[in-house]
Amino acid sequence: MTDLLGEMRSTHNCGELNAKHIGKEVVLMGWVQRRRDHGGVIFIDLRDREGITQVVFNPVKDKKVHEKAHAIRSEYVIGVRGVVDKRPEGMVNPGLRTGEVEITVVELKILNTAKTPPFLIEEQIDVSESIRLKYRHLDLRRPRLQKNIILRHKASASVRRYLNANGFLEIETPFLTRSTPEGARDYLVPSRVNPGQFYALPQSPQIFKQLLMISGFDRYYQVVRCFRDEDLRADRQPEFTQIDFEMSFVGEDDIMGISEGMIKNLFQDVLEMEIEIPFPRITYADAVSRFGLDKPDTRFDLKLKDISDIVKDSGFKVFSSVVEKGGIVKALNAKGCVDFSRKEIDDLAELVAIYRAKGLAWIKIREDKWQSPIAKFFTDKEKEKLAQRLAIEPGDLIFFVADMPQITNEALGQLRNHLGKRLGLANEKEFRFMWVTHFPLLEYDETEKRYQALHHPFTAPFEEDYELLSTDPLAVKSRAYDLVLNGCEIGGGSIRMHQRDMQEKVFEALGMDRKTYEEKFGFLLSALDTGAPPHGGIAFGFDRLVMILCGQPSIRDVIPFPKTQKAACLLTNAPSEAGKGQLDELSLKVKMLEP
Ligand code: AMO
Ligand code: AMP
Repeated sequence: MTDLLGEMRSTHNCGELNAKHIGKEVVLMGWVQRRRDHGGVIFIDLRDREGITQVVFNPVKDKKVHEKAHAIRSEYVIGVRGVVDKRPEGMVNPGLRTGEVEITVVELKILNTAKTPPFLIEEQIDVSESIRLKYRHLDLRRPRLQKNIILRHKASASVRRYLNANGFLEIETPFLTRSTPEGARDYLVPSRVNPGQFYALPQSPQIFKQLLMISGFDRYYQVVRCFRDEDLRADRQPEFTQIDFEMSFVGEDDIMGISEGMIKNLFQDVLEMEIEIPFPRITYADAVSRFGLDKPDTRFDLKLKDISDIVKDSGFKVFSSVVEKGGIVKALNAKGCVDFSRKEIDDLAELVAIYRAKGLAWIKIREDKWQSPIAKFFTDKEKEKLAQRLAIEPGDLIFFVADMPQITNEALGQLRNHLGKRLGLANEKEFRFMWVTHFPLLEYDETEKRYQALHHPFTAPFEEDYELLSTDPLAVKSRAYDLVLNGCEIGGGSIRMHQRDMQEKVFEALGMDRKTYEEKFGFLLSALDTGAPPHGGIAFGFDRLVMILCGQPSIRDVIPFPKTQKAACLLTNAPSEAGKGQLDELSLKVKMLEP
């Protein structure tokens, strides 16, 4: 094989040359973004991850090199030696960091040719995401993705620096392990040497980090991959990365304090932006009551108002009967939206229907009257109270949902987020953090007909709520906390149970009998019996954080090789069938069941 590169080595990258370098001989290597032939002179935009530099092949200056440059096409890989020249008057490109200069080439090496790519390597391209994912290595050449991946690196470096400086040890934990319940399905891996047995990939390092506390590694962290088989969305991937840490001898404030310091530092390092800490806190109950959701976007107001007391005896039976049955009626005042069309309102009704609301009642507040199919049912007194509670003014459009509290809050909370986006109420450049605390320990799963942990089963209840575990489990509050940024849950953690009897009580509240929890978590229970210190921690969704730092709409934009909605990798065509030989080795036979 010939060594095309020979002795040639780059002296600079494609984003750094400027007027200061004029007159210097340099070597650049990269990809051909564009080739233009201007009356004999050939111009090439040479690209690498740092930027673009214009290189020039001038037949008057070097005929042979110019001749060779004719062969160059887009995405060819080349190396050039040349002199940095000032661009002629009028040719300066202020939009480019290297826009003041160009390289007049004296030596050209074509290091590789390239087939015409399936799409142009440019910022604005009109191709489906599936094509981009199939050719992800090319997609990743585009400046936006390069920027995202570089920022991702800076972010993880910043986090590591901060945690290292604060006495944390980076410790790895196994991927081939037992199930760590975080509310999703497990990915299973068959064991060849133990036929018929499976490892589960970790949904998080939760149990291992607790064991590390018991081992005495009182400040642990990891930037770690987690695996969850769940329904995917813009902010969920089957494998994603957490910044995971755990501390011993601490309470909530200590963990929140370290988290705040880490985030402040991160925003300074990657965006050069000052974030104010400590972050405000809100209880779960307040968040749901005011914003409808436990991850409120607090960049805009538009709060939900409970009007159950006003309409409980109303002539509009939908409202009064819901209140009578223990439900609630809540309203949102969409200021200035009085001219929404019927179609627009119907679309919003469809949106709330996704969250199981049975309808979306509305009133348009005109100068002279309330225009609405339901206004006629309200007495003057009721109208007066509504006007006061909802700060009603002409031009407003009021929306109502009546249902059981959970449905009412979620439906209006989602409507609130939708209106926030649509009306441009949320400033895209703003970062609003909020801690959500005092979550319920348990929730009731209607399909499974049993309680399940809202966070995970190792989260401690508040001590004053212990008694309620056996009498009113849903009323028990947990020592869990989530960090929400602009309506996105970017992190969550808790203080854990470090005493065996408490942990057993919670397993029992979750409907597990002794045999079951001994089998699943016996190793943790016996470890708790060997001198477990009080401890707690948190994990941040690193992809989500980077997505927000990069101002991107999906975590797929900040993950080098993401999966599709159907958990497939279009580049490698994973998942795929296993060959017979491999299955035999694993003592497995595939029998497809009816879905
Ligand atoms: P939790 O399950 O809340 O907590 O996860 C922590 C954070 O991880 C992010 N996240 C995800 N990001 C992308 N894709 C997913 N499928 C996905 N699932 C979760 C979220 C979330 O806030 N062991 C506990 C932490 C602890 O208690 O210390 C845990 O994993 O941003
Ligand atoms: P109806 O009496 O069913 O024609 O409903 C009159 C209006 O009330 C319609 O705009 C419905 O969308 C709305 N509506 C019906 N049920 C509910 C509900 N549970 N909550 C809020 N609005 C409702």
